[in-house]
Amino acid sequence: MSRLIFLFAVFAIFFWSCTHEPSETVEPAPGAGSGGDSGGDNGDTTQVAGCDPDTVYFKNDILPLLQSSCGTMGCHDAGTATEGVILTDYENIIRTGEVEPFDAESSEIYEVITESDSDDRMPPAPNDPLSQEQITLVATWINQGALNNSCESDCDTTNVSYATAVAPVFENFCLGCHDQATANGGVVLETYDQRATLANSGALHGVINGTDGYPLMPPSNGLPGCEIAILEKWISDGAPNN
Ligand code: HEC
Repeated sequence: MSRLIFLFAVFAIFFWSCTHEPSETVEPAPGAGSGGDSGGDNGDTTQVAGCDPDTVYFKNDILPLLQSSCGTMGCHDAGTATEGVILTDYENIIRTGEVEPFDAESSEIYEVITESDSDDRMPPAPNDPLSQEQITLVATWINQGALNNSCESDCDTTNVSYATAVAPVFENFCLGCHDQATANGGVVLETYDQRATLANSGALHGVINGTDGYPLMPPSNGLPGCEIAILEKWISDGAPNN
């Protein structure tokens, strides 16, 4: 029973903005982002040019995954952007997810996303579990040391194709909060038509930059620079289905 309460506590923090039930037993790290108590070298921010295909990067891969998993829990209110800070912060993910660097099996966050009992699993039923691919990403990131790392790929926007460049941005950074089931803000971004309509209305430009009175999307962080550049190029091309 206490184990159940613990599991809940970890994820109550994790999905704090969704559940509106911040845990009393697990406190967020004080002074978010200040280095502090995550231990060893893991608080260091390592940004490298060029993405190694065998490395999982916190800012590129893990943070967007956690953010949109929150969306699938049903983050519907406008306060999400500010309260979601817990999710957007390396220190708190390490601490409240009980991440043991180099040891996914001993990390609470890995345990709860792989739990076979759907009542104990996170996200809990009736939400879908994370996909095997997403679970592997989390495990690999932890087993590579759970670093606060990021990479900047060569950002080539000369020929932006919808299928190969644009659609993956929507899938990785938007869909968790904007599929048919979650539809945060009443916005669904599953199909090409829905995405193109948003692009042509000017709203896509607004939300990825947080300008013209639009809320920044994804909340709190926005997109990495290259993803913004890809979407901007696609918008200025007239949002073709190419
Ligand atoms: C973590 C969940 C989350 C993610 C990820 C996310 N959104 Fe949102 N989105 C929301 C919420 C919550 C709202 C409604 C609250 C608001 O308007 O501030 C919203 C509202 C919107 C709106 C309506 C804005 C308006 O007021 O007119 C658009 C458009 C939008 N999102 C586009 C996107 C796009 C494009 C992406 C990916 C680049 C994205 N969102 C990623 C949660 C998310």
